[in-house]
Amino acid sequence: MFKPDLIVLEETESTQDIAGKMALDEAPSGTSVMALRQIKGRGRSRSYWHSPPGKNLALSVIVRPTIKVQECPLLGMLASITTADLVDDLCHPFKAYLKWPNDVLIQDRKIAGILSEARILNGIVEFIVLGVGLNINSRAEDFPDELCESLTSFVIITGKTFDLKKVGISFLERLADLVHKVEHEGADFVPLLWEQRWRHKGQMLVRDGVMGTAIGIGPDGGLLMKIHDGEILNITSGTISLL
Ligand code: BTN
Repeated sequence: MFKPDLIVLEETESTQDIAGKMALDEAPSGTSVMALRQIKGRGRSRSYWHSPPGKNLALSVIVRPTIKVQECPLLGMLASITTADLVDDLCHPFKAYLKWPNDVLIQDRKIAGILSEARILNGIVEFIVLGVGLNINSRAEDFPDELCESLTSFVIITGKTFDLKKVGISFLERLADLVHKVEHEGADFVPLLWEQRWRHKGQMLVRDGVMGTAIGIGPDGGLLMKIHDGEILNITSGTISLL
């Protein structure tokens, strides 16, 4: 049973690593770590996650779901849906959208990213650590120059600053509702829920030089792309760009 329990650290290299170690030490589902200053944040595809000290939410949560190995990506999607719901509420009237697999966009700029790391043993999902990096109080000048045009934050959108811990708790409460739903019903509902916020549905996308139309999300969270000869590819990794 997922039960949120938040530990707040002043500073750490990566909350993802701390939560991963706690999970290996049997920490229960819902155990979460946030850091006010994260100095070596990790992003998807081995990238560095830039987070100016004290300004943004860096939080990792341990989930121990009963799901099939191939369904693991659906948990990352659950975290991005949760984040988008939270962004909608706090940045009203602006609406958050999702970019496959898990970026949260608002006004076509990235406000949050999710790193989902699963531990699988003998074909069984032992746990997943969901890491959310959500830009809250960082202003344009806090972002690296090359990312300045593509990122945004709560304060940029609303003009208001927010308490990081309160936002973290609110994220966990919302995530708990969806994780409980998975615990009771399984994760089949996730792709459709995710698609409702999909920014690029029906659009032409490119992945590794292959072009196609984004037609849906498969049962395991893959991006279904219809290419020129009508074949439908199920894309499960990599970076997608707009044509
Ligand atoms: C992405 O590349 O979009 C995912 C970024 C995920 C960053 C978060 S911040 C909290 C957690 N700790 C990390 O080191 N990374 C994730």
